[in-house]
Amino acid sequence: MNKNEIINAFEFRHACKEFDVNRKILSDDFQYILEAARLSPSSFGFEPWHFLVIQNQALRDKLKERAWGATLKLSTASHFVICLAMKPDLTRYDSSYLQDFMDRIQHLPEDWVKTKTQFFKTFQEEDFDLQDNRALFDWASKQTYIALGNMMTAAALIGIDSCPIEGFHPATTEAILAEELGVDLNKYGVSYMVAFGYRKNNPGEKTRRLLEEIVTWK
Ligand SMILES: Cc1cc2nc3c(=O)[nH]c(=O)nc-3n(C[C@H](O)[C@H](O)[C@H](O)COP(=O)(O)O)c2cc1C
Repeated sequence: MNKNEIINAFEFRHACKEFDVNRKILSDDFQYILEAARLSPSSFGFEPWHFLVIQNQALRDKLKERAWGATLKLSTASHFVICLAMKPDLTRYDSSYLQDFMDRIQHLPEDWVKTKTQFFKTFQEEDFDLQDNRALFDWASKQTYIALGNMMTAAALIGIDSCPIEGFHPATTEAILAEELGVDLNKYGVSYMVAFGYRKNNPGEKTRRLLEEIVTWK
């Protein structure tokens, strides 16, 4: 791999405000973007996420009502993803989801599951102080942003544009997803939205602080 090509992809990626409605992402290319999400790392490897791909225009229109940062993207994106993060029912150290996950997905023997559960309890209760529901949800949500970065970079590497979105009212969005898609709000909450497609207009200048301002070497 060529470093310049990779940096060019980071330069190419910008928060695309409006997509070209005439250009759709090939399904193979979109699978590749989802694969970048699937392979993303997460704390303890617990993958506290679920990705909804919202292609139905009536549902997209409904979501626009309280999604001020997403309106034009909901109208024009080739593919529109809502990322859900797991709620404490699933992510507390002793949840049945995590017990099953360690057994079925991580293939851990029973005694390792016990050890890891104990370790995870200490991490949640003492190290990261994740005891209240909001803190635990936000911790799961943090993991989902790693998948966000990876999806956008993977997309940029093959010339696909994207826009990450937090400009929405989570409670309203969740109520719509519960009603329309049966999302169980005891188990999941909305983390972010992200739109994919091909740019309609060229972006403005990219502004960033210099490395010297943001990095300290000792
Ligand atoms: C978590 C997150 C949420 C964002 N929410 C929105 C949004 O709701 N609508 C929007 O148009 N841009 C949104 N942005 C885009 C940022 O404004 C943009 O990334 C930033 O200004 C840097 O510009 P660039 O991405 O074009 O380099 C969001 C970015 C991030 C990382």
